[in-house]
Amino acid sequence: MSLLIRNGLLVEHDGRRKADIYCEDETITKVGNQLEAPAGATVVDAKEMYVFPGFIDPHVHIHLPFMGTFAKDTHASGSKAALIGGTTTFIEMCCPNRTMDLIDGYEEWKSLASGNASCDYAFHMSVPKWEDDKTESQLDAIVGDGTSSFKIFLAYKDFFGVYDDELFKILTYAAKHGVITTAHTENAELVAQMQARLLAEGKTEPKYHEMSRPDYVEASGVNHFATFLQLTGAKGYVVHLSNAKALAAAMKARYQGVALGVEVVIPHLILNKSYAEQPSFESAKYIMSPPLRTKADNEALWNALASGLVDTVATDHAPFDFVGQKEMGKDDFTLIPNGIPAIEDRINLLYTYGVSRGDLTLERFVEVGSTNAAKFFGLYPRKGTLRVGSDADLVVFDPKKKGSFSVKTQSMNIDYNGFEGMERDGMPTLVSVRGEVQVKDGAFVGEAGRGKMIRRETLV
Ligand code: URP
Ligand code: ZN
Ligand code: ZN
Repeated sequence: MSLLIRNGLLVEHDGRRKADIYCEDETITKVGNQLEAPAGATVVDAKEMYVFPGFIDPHVHIHLPFMGTFAKDTHASGSKAALIGGTTTFIEMCCPNRTMDLIDGYEEWKSLASGNASCDYAFHMSVPKWEDDKTESQLDAIVGDGTSSFKIFLAYKDFFGVYDDELFKILTYAAKHGVITTAHTENAELVAQMQARLLAEGKTEPKYHEMSRPDYVEASGVNHFATFLQLTGAKGYVVHLSNAKALAAAMKARYQGVALGVEVVIPHLILNKSYAEQPSFESAKYIMSPPLRTKADNEALWNALASGLVDTVATDHAPFDFVGQKEMGKDDFTLIPNGIPAIEDRINLLYTYGVSRGDLTLERFVEVGSTNAAKFFGLYPRKGTLRVGSDADLVVFDPKKKGSFSVKTQSMNIDYNGFEGMERDGMPTLVSVRGEVQVKDGAFVGEAGRGKMIRRETLV
């Protein structure tokens, strides 16, 4: 299996150059000018196109039993949608709840992904509790299996959420073993109290979701998480940071020496809370946590992204149909399954509204869409770069292929698109994973189920 891509503009996080790129078997083996390919090689002309390292989505939910239902994508459908959108590796939140055994959960997620995912993948292991007699040895087994990042929730009380004593033990373990811990930082108790108060006042519509979890509750959660990181010496990463106050809290922690990465997600960059405040129940399509915020928050996140304060752009893909699932919260906003899916649209939205119509350079686009996630989570330089020796995960991107986002054309297994009708400036025309062409001209053409679990080292 060999693949030669000629005449493209190769863009990495630290520069760009016009060159050919040649891949043999699963690996990039040559980068240079006027490269020749042996007979039988696949040769692609990428004139006037960009060639990017495969994009990495560091926060997705595929299998997700949550809020009385299941997220709609399977590993088969979600991974194909990812690939069509230029994402060649995703990191899935492996999310057993507090009642489940950690190892049973881990094995369940692994077996669902194995043989079904068509892109490469890894897991962040959610640790929803600490049991003195067994959690440590269970985590030893999981980390030893190459899952070297954790997830904790301060939100979702009594389901995914951890208590403070448990958090301290988890982070103490993480610090000792060189594991990075990702965190959803909304304070569960404050959210639960606010939800109860709003419902008691008869405020049941989707528009009250944001009011039940204001920006400063998320910001105080960032402070809380950072305090635990400081005390334990663990390395942390705030997921789906949504607003300027939470950003300020993260920066304050960072300036005080806390090792803290920051992720934003596509809905918080592109959409604002007016979508969730429409008078009709359609607004339920725009319910996620943390909620959509103000336009000023959108702007703060874009600025932070361009200036280097934010490290990664993920999706937090969590697809729930409008019909039958979001509708579960018709009379009570707290029952609307949370999530605005975007696994297929992340890179096209980031390119269109960040690069083409915004301030992101092509290099920064690659850095926040791919390279930084690889560096934070132990995938670099295997992924996230176009170096000789790296996996041949390539995205040939044609900036001239314009279009729009729509449920009518998407592959994601869900009955709406949160970005319906928005314009798109360009798209991936070819996507390879470890040398195999998986997507051509917007369609999946490759080998289904070929994705591999990428095992990762710890930081120490
Ligand atoms: O609304 C969201 N974010 N749904 C998925 C679960 C989570 O909190 O990441
Ligand atoms: Zn979350
Ligand atoms: Zn999430």
